[in-house]
Amino acid sequence: MVDSSPTGVAPERVRRLLDAELASFADRHPRSRALHERARASLLDGVPMNWMVKWAGPFPLFLESASGAHAICADGHEYADLCLGDTGAMAGHGPAPVREAVARQLERGITTMLPTEDAAWVGEELARRFGLPAWQFTLSATDANRFSLRIARAITGRPLIAVHEYCYHGSVDETIALLDPEDPEGRRVVARRGNLGPQVDPAQTTRVVPYNDLGALEHALADGRVAALLIEPALTNVGIVLPEPGYLEGVRELTRRQGTILIHDETHTICAGPGGMTGAGGYRPDMLVIGKTIGGGIPLAAYGMTAEVADRARAAVPWEDADVGGIGGTLAGYALSMAAARAALGEVLTAAAFERMLPLAARWERGVQDGIDRHGAPWSVTRLGARAEYHFMPNPPRDGAEQTAHADADLERLLHLWVMNRGVLMTPFHNMALMSPATSEADVDRHTAAFDDALEALFA
Ligand SMILES: Cc1ncc(COP(=O)(O)O)c(C=O)c1O
Repeated sequence: MVDSSPTGVAPERVRRLLDAELASFADRHPRSRALHERARASLLDGVPMNWMVKWAGPFPLFLESASGAHAICADGHEYADLCLGDTGAMAGHGPAPVREAVARQLERGITTMLPTEDAAWVGEELARRFGLPAWQFTLSATDANRFSLRIARAITGRPLIAVHEYCYHGSVDETIALLDPEDPEGRRVVARRGNLGPQVDPAQTTRVVPYNDLGALEHALADGRVAALLIEPALTNVGIVLPEPGYLEGVRELTRRQGTILIHDETHTICAGPGGMTGAGGYRPDMLVIGKTIGGGIPLAAYGMTAEVADRARAAVPWEDADVGGIGGTLAGYALSMAAARAALGEVLTAAAFERMLPLAARWERGVQDGIDRHGAPWSVTRLGARAEYHFMPNPPRDGAEQTAHADADLERLLHLWVMNRGVLMTPFHNMALMSPATSEADVDRHTAAFDDALEALFA
């Protein structure tokens, strides 16, 4: 029965089901609970990284192991992993070519601050996939974004950057900003809720534009003070929000006209294909960032640029100052990560692998859509290549604010916990599933069945 509340489900029903699932999770995970209790004595909130407490259970699931598309928790339960380390393990957990390459490299030197042949190979492969000729490496996508923004400011001599509202590009200070909902013109920038001790008020560094709004972008760039526009070609971190026809072409045209450096952050949108959305759509950004998955689980990210940006960057950074110029990382481009990336890109995340992954995500999308239709839920599903997501609204969102307005923390937590209690891991943020080359139809169908049961409990 569809309720009159925005999600179609009465909050009391969600709360009742959530309490039952929390109790069931606690019963089934005594060892995770004990490990969490122990870790609280030495780790802030009992986890090594703060967002691990965002998982849906009453305490985090401690893992015993993960292999391929599956994980086993400390209590011995097995899961189909559709979170895949929020894309860090999009190549699958420990793919054999990466493990072998890493094992070989462990014998040959892990980090030396000198290049290896693998680095040249990885640069060539990234150039082939993304159409940009000059690459640099970091340990995280956050750093790759930060350094790209520095280069853009250095070569344009402009002070500001622009981002999409509800973007996420890692912990890059200037990007943790939103539009002030109190501003009738919708232009004033404020720190995003949760922005922890910002170094500088983002209103001084950043312009924010809603996704899919070329008029707002045109206005934001018009005075020529914006060095770079940093975007995910599709939003994936607030929920998947896809571009309307012509939007990305318009973004390219406006940034080119205003001399603003366009940076595509493909860290998540690589799910669209071997060259991400940039490769699939034939787009031509000035710079491109990719992190997480390219090391097959070993820390590594990269940023690439056109020959023109590379020439301007070289001219902007005096050689003798390069090591203190704000772009660095002692282990950046270290030998182990390069060996891992060569294996991950060359043998795992290949075009053939994407040909398998995309139909799996389409199967997941169909399964979820069928459930929504069968139970009359006023919800929708979107898919971007190997990644898909459901939304608590009848039509997919057009921008991040619309997606956020339809979020429901309890309902989301219930659905995550429901499938977790039935052997499926979902990304802990919003309702997103990702396929790896190791994912199977059975893994997808396990989610479909659990999701359908949840809808039965919510809408019967
Ligand atoms: C699009 C995008 N860029 C950058 C990052 C930051 O990656 P990292 O945490 O590896 O720095 C993320 C992380 O979720 C991301 O989704």
